[in-house]
Amino acid sequence: MRTFPSGVTHDIRYVSPFPIYVERAQGSRKWDVDGNEYVDYVMGHGALFLGHTHPEITQAVVDQAGRGTHYGANHRLELEWGERVKGLVPSAEEVRFTSSGTEATLMAVRLARAYTGRDKLLKFDHHFHGWQDYVVGVRVAESDSPRSPGIPDGTLATTISVPQNNLSLVEERLQEGDVAAVILEPTGASWGTLPIRHEFLAGLRELTSRHNAVLIFDEVVTGFRVSPGGVQARYGVTPDLTTLAKILAGGLPGGAVAGKTDILSMLEFRDDAGWNAGLRVAHPGTFNANPLSAAAGSTMLAQVATAEHHRHADRLNERLITQLNRVIQRAGVPGGAYGLASYSHILLGKEAPRPAGGIEWPEDASEPARMSASVTSALKRGMLNHGVDLMGGSGGFTSGVHTENDIDVTTEAFEATVGEMRAEGIV
Ligand SMILES: Cc1ncc(COP(=O)(O)O)c(C=O)c1O
Repeated sequence: MRTFPSGVTHDIRYVSPFPIYVERAQGSRKWDVDGNEYVDYVMGHGALFLGHTHPEITQAVVDQAGRGTHYGANHRLELEWGERVKGLVPSAEEVRFTSSGTEATLMAVRLARAYTGRDKLLKFDHHFHGWQDYVVGVRVAESDSPRSPGIPDGTLATTISVPQNNLSLVEERLQEGDVAAVILEPTGASWGTLPIRHEFLAGLRELTSRHNAVLIFDEVVTGFRVSPGGVQARYGVTPDLTTLAKILAGGLPGGAVAGKTDILSMLEFRDDAGWNAGLRVAHPGTFNANPLSAAAGSTMLAQVATAEHHRHADRLNERLITQLNRVIQRAGVPGGAYGLASYSHILLGKEAPRPAGGIEWPEDASEPARMSASVTSALKRGMLNHGVDLMGGSGGFTSGVHTENDIDVTTEAFEATVGEMRAEGIV
């Protein structure tokens, strides 16, 4: 008798032969129903930049719950929250809150289409933007039209997917004059699993401006993480629109589209019945900017602004990646670990150059190979057995509350897991 398909409520939580059930969490740790303790690198799928049950965020949510969870009206905290986004994110001239990252990318694409009067969306292979119809298709073979069950061909035909890091391909497509927007994860596919070359961002900025297409940075993962102002602040490339979620809402549900006033104005009411009825982009959403998310999010962003937690999380991530690479080297198995700021990725069973100084994938190396599903699931399982929960089985997030001890415990777990995987002939 089952309640959920495959026993899970999010694809990434699927673990063979069975997933863990967690009962409580605190700081960098969580405990399952059998009392097993885990160092957590899932960190709320990247939302918990200050760890589980951070005292100030918890207090803000509890206080707000006592004052009301939904006013069906504007409220002070949503303004405070929006102002904080504007203060941190360079492209954020105006902000619109949504209930998730998927809703944020859906709205960004719609705004871009309405603003430009064009239909096509240009995205990059393997870049993830949530589960809405325009972005989930997977490109098959040489065709540049994505495919996905349950989505009409006509919808999929409006999305073009091309490999990342190739500006000439983008230019070729933009020259046709029908592309409304270019959307990407600005540190590369799957939060930097396939890292983007830095000059690619500046190149996209120049090409989209020249061809009047809207440039959308999907900073759902990278926003407030790779720097307080995200990728755009770190590398000095400002998109037209930015999609945000995860850290934005302090561990509660929430997302946002932020960007140029010109484009966000597609949402505004005007003293013009024709505009309001037929040209304006409508945007309801029962839980947009709900007071609990606003309380958690605003408290989180106040903490993010100082960059103090970034220094801590980034330093521990560097320690983690360095130690994981030493384990891989000692074990003599193919692979490497790399990352950026406070996220890490592990590649096992494939030859990989290891970062030389720092933690980033070497710029002059070709793109990392993708790890096979069987190796990923063996790694996830092995690490769980040794008390560590990785995000999706091949990496994760450090936070402002991880400790050196967490990293050392993780290194030991990794050493044991790699040894077992080698003994079983998996790597
Ligand atoms: C880059 C990116 N965009 C969008 C999303 C979708 O966000 P949500 O899960 O809040 O719908 C995700 C989720 O992981 C993401 O990583």
